[in-house]
Amino acid sequence: MVKPTVETLVTGGAGFIGSNFVLHALDTHPNWRVTTLDKLTYAGRLENLQKVIDDPRHRFIEGDVTDAAVAGPLVRASDIVIHFAAETHVDRSLQEAGAFITTDVYGSFVLLDAARESDRLRCFVQISTDEVYGSVEKGSSRETDEIRPRNPYAASKAGADRLAYSYWATHGVPVIITRGSNNYGRHQFPEKVIPLFVTNAIDRLPVPLYGDGKNIRDWLHVEDHCRAIDLLIEKGNAGEVYNIGGGNEVQNIDLTHRILELLDRPTSLITPVEDRLGHDRRYSVDTGKLRALGWRPRHPFEEGLRATVDWYRKNEWWWRPIKEADPAYRDYYETQYGRRHDGRA
Ligand code: NAD
Ligand code: DAU
Repeated sequence: MVKPTVETLVTGGAGFIGSNFVLHALDTHPNWRVTTLDKLTYAGRLENLQKVIDDPRHRFIEGDVTDAAVAGPLVRASDIVIHFAAETHVDRSLQEAGAFITTDVYGSFVLLDAARESDRLRCFVQISTDEVYGSVEKGSSRETDEIRPRNPYAASKAGADRLAYSYWATHGVPVIITRGSNNYGRHQFPEKVIPLFVTNAIDRLPVPLYGDGKNIRDWLHVEDHCRAIDLLIEKGNAGEVYNIGGGNEVQNIDLTHRILELLDRPTSLITPVEDRLGHDRRYSVDTGKLRALGWRPRHPFEEGLRATVDWYRKNEWWWRPIKEADPAYRDYYETQYGRRHDGRA
């Protein structure tokens, strides 16, 4: 029997996780038609979707989730919404938090409010984050734990997370909330620690390690994250929160050493720098609830990291133009090589 077409809206689908999800969804669900809604901020890269840009089962719409005139009709025409769009970088939220409140909180409100009026929506996935739990000194966060976000990014995500829950509790919108740990893999913007350190190390530039380097993050391969979201669309319960974590808790200093080893670069590239304000020491999520549905991460961290480093090594066309547009990188490069980053006099 031919399965009916499922209209799926992916917000933020030109970003890191969103683009991996769009590619995964079109590969694994022949009956899905996917609409990507993305504002193409600095983090949104159309090249992430180049494989599917001409796919008749995919369409790309450049637009802002805060614009109800654009986002509302798209939500109401969907069976499934997966809401990734957000401002996502903690350091940027320390400099200028306004865009985080606008996109992460107000943007989620616009989508949820449109979902309230839908009579066809069967699942609205609110992509939240493990950062909402705040710094976890001991043990692992469970979905029922109190949330204690400690930076403007995490607080804006926590606001959206609870707003999504409220639309389920009050209006019955079929919301599922996911709290994922630190993702890694292809297409991650080179401001986040792994792609920043990998691309700097490729260029033999210093890698700026914050504070004492002993902060811990739990690394989750982006493909494992996508499979978890997929499973939750099928088996998750509306109104519930699900942690998603890779089970790979690593101190930043150890992560840095592994990256340098993989690239055969000296440890002298490690440059301790001033710590991030309010730097959360550790994140750790208990993933028992998701595992009970049958999910397991498939990518061991050593292999996943090696493959990710290889991806950046082989895909300079993807990251070098992004870095060359950044004046700080150009200064760095010139200091190191005594010439312009592009080789011109
Ligand atoms: P990203 O920064 O790589 O991509 C964000 C995307 O959203 C970009 O394509 C950008 O253009 C788009 N966007 C931003 N503002 C928009 C707006 N107003 N309207 C429409 N599109 C807009 O982010 P990412 O790392 O892929 O994260 C995706 C989601 O997953 C976010 O909600 C983030 O909070 C969450 N998350 C990320 C991680 C991680 O480790 N990266 C872990 C857990 C949860
Ligand atoms: O935990 C999930 C979160 O992971 C997501 O919700 C966020 O969107 C995502 O950005 C990520 O947040 P982090 O702050 O953990 O990621 P980031 O890559 O910025 O930093 C990871 C660790 O590395 C953190 O302890 C800070 C440190 N770091 C980071 C940078 C950019 C450095 O030591 N030096 C750096 O230059």
